[in-house]
Amino acid sequence: MNDKTLIKSRFSANFSTYNDNASVQKKTVEELTKLIPYINYGNILEIGAGTGLLTKKLDYLNAQKLFINDLCENITLNIKPQNLPYEFIIGDAEEIEFPHNLDLIVSANAIQWFDNLKTFFQKSAQALNPKGKLIFSTFITDNYKEITQTFGISLNYKTSDEILDCAKNFFDIKSSKQETITIYFETLKDLLSHIKATGANAVSTTNLTKTKFVEAKNLYEQLRNKNGLPLTYHPAYFVLEKP
Ligand SMILES: C[S@@+](CC[C@H](N)C(=O)[O-])C[C@H]1O[C@@H](n2cnc3c(N)ncnc32)[C@H](O)[C@@H]1O
Repeated sequence: MNDKTLIKSRFSANFSTYNDNASVQKKTVEELTKLIPYINYGNILEIGAGTGLLTKKLDYLNAQKLFINDLCENITLNIKPQNLPYEFIIGDAEEIEFPHNLDLIVSANAIQWFDNLKTFFQKSAQALNPKGKLIFSTFITDNYKEITQTFGISLNYKTSDEILDCAKNFFDIKSSKQETITIYFETLKDLLSHIKATGANAVSTTNLTKTKFVEAKNLYEQLRNKNGLPLTYHPAYFVLEKP
């Protein structure tokens, strides 16, 4: 089970540094936006809005109302849609009740933090109107694979097939795709600062002693190539439709 209190505190504490460091998340938001049909919508729900990178894009859609969710209440300080009527729904998306009669549920880079995808898909399908869509990006199996290999720390990332197998119980699969994006750092300190600045260090590190840290640092050094120390991102994109 993910530690939601830790997730909330790490993201809340790092919203001010997120946008300057979230080059990969910005790219995935661009990709995800291309998958959202430009049609007339009734109600839209965005899950895990963070600093509002995707919210800004949704604000250009034709819709009656945009519901904006995140675990962290301080999103209300950063996100101010200009065009659409909106309402914040603060809380754990796995626990809160979703608004009903939704035409679209969207989420960028957040669902990897969920404990129970099946319940999430079921709840989303119940909240959507027939032909309503759930369109999201999330990080899958090889995300931060170098951190897993060296520090032995990882979120429980799913494979694309695992996500699709679960989704098809509730949705028609319209499309799915994945990509690998590797970015490089000169030092491990810079790399870990990057992860921290995007809030993605919300995985427990309580067992990491100084000796283990030095061991991990030496292992990571072995991964260095001419570009520097690699850090792999593995985003996947899904377009699902309620039958
Ligand atoms: C990597 S950020 C992504 C933010 C934004 N969507 C983007 O792409 O830039 C992940 C966001 O998901 C939120 N989050 C994580 N678990 C959540 C949950 N169970 N319910 C709601 N929001 C959650 C975090 O608070 C954080 O703001």
